[in-house]
Amino acid sequence: MRRKIVVGNWKMNNTIAESETLAAEVVAALGENFSGCEVGIAPTFLALEAAGRIIEGSEVQLVAQNCHYENDGAFTGEVSARMLFAAGCSSVIIGHSERRQYFGETNATVNLRTKKALSEGLNVILCVGETLEQRESGVTDAIISSQVREGLDGISDISSIVIAYEPVWAIGTGKTASSAQAEEVHLHIRTLVTELYGDDAAQGLRIQYGGSVKPSNAAELFAMPNIDGGLIGGASLNAADFAAIITAASL
Ligand code: 13P
Repeated sequence: MRRKIVVGNWKMNNTIAESETLAAEVVAALGENFSGCEVGIAPTFLALEAAGRIIEGSEVQLVAQNCHYENDGAFTGEVSARMLFAAGCSSVIIGHSERRQYFGETNATVNLRTKKALSEGLNVILCVGETLEQRESGVTDAIISSQVREGLDGISDISSIVIAYEPVWAIGTGKTASSAQAEEVHLHIRTLVTELYGDDAAQGLRIQYGGSVKPSNAAELFAMPNIDGGLIGGASLNAADFAAIITAASL
């Protein structure tokens, strides 16, 4: 049985002080001895350390939103995996569609960043997902396959990787993929990973869904056999909503 994982991707929201408040609210909402599922929060780089102090000793893990593929050097505006590990992060989100869409991230750079993060001791949440245009022209499976294959190229052990399926058309739009639509792609990913890594690795792999997950639709999504939790954007900025989604993943 795979343990579900719910991570709040705060994106470019919250000052340091606001991040501290929200982190404290999440810890309080989960209560003591929470063990329902794995939980993480991903504040901005700037607020990682402060939020990390707040969640210390709780079950909530510290997650970064991106990392570079070199340890250090002349890469203005970037943060390395080595720095994130030292700052207390256990995981990093790589290849989010907003990185691909607005910041030129490609399957090749996603692969480099993933390899570096793993080698520095971080777990990776590797994001994949098709645009509306790709879905409507019937190439969803092909796009997802190339994102997974190229993102994982040269990686022999996927035990520290979670894949997040986030259809671009469902992110921040209020349009959630139906649980059947999401399950179809999750199954496609697991089947591909079975081909690439064998049955044991594929059955152990957790595949999160992301895209307008809310308290009202979380339970139905998480009930699907190949949906192992969620990567939550907007709803993770409200502790009560985020906690309700976590509860839905803990059933
Ligand atoms: P929303 O939940 O706001 O649609 O965002 C999803 C997402 O991009 C999480 O990484």
